[in-house]
Amino acid sequence: MNREKKAEISRLISEGKWLHVTGSRKNVQNTEYYVVIADLLKLDEVRALADFRHHIMTTRWQHCLNVSYYNYRICRLLRLDAVSAARAGLLHDLYHYDTKRYHKGTHTLGHSSYHPMKALENAERIVEMNDRERDMIEKHMWPVTHRRPKYAETYIITLVDKYCAVIEFILPQPARLGRWIRSKTHKA
Ligand SMILES: [Fe+2]
Ligand SMILES: [Fe+2]
Repeated sequence: MNREKKAEISRLISEGKWLHVTGSRKNVQNTEYYVVIADLLKLDEVRALADFRHHIMTTRWQHCLNVSYYNYRICRLLRLDAVSAARAGLLHDLYHYDTKRYHKGTHTLGHSSYHPMKALENAERIVEMNDRERDMIEKHMWPVTHRRPKYAETYIITLVDKYCAVIEFILPQPARLGRWIRSKTHKA
């Protein structure tokens, strides 16, 4: 990521413009959730996720923030380890390549199996993690991947990840439709 891009992301984060999760208007910078992930958001490896499109309609950065936030809220509600849930959620897709390009290549492992291992390897390099966080990152694709989650929090992330993928795709559709209608009526 070049310097201008990093500076731009820093500015947006400091203005609170990037810290909305999909499906909520709340600025998460003003919540107790923010405190537990603030150190991770400063890392270049995490910010670089903004360079990659994810689930067609969003960026990998936004997707990881969404999973992290909803993971935290649900685990807190269930009196589980919400801090680990928030941190693992932010790191669960920590890989820096275009997924489409992976699919075009010749690989022995499918991407569903490969990327959690890559994300775990990348996360281990930049931050200390506990066993629960490792389990959540490594097995977030279960049951598509076969190794069973060891912790309740891991089952939660498998559901939250899929929920976020759905809302990230569906929620921008009315805005797209509005743009399409405006473009048609403008021409007429
Ligand atoms: Fe993933
Ligand atoms: Fe994900």
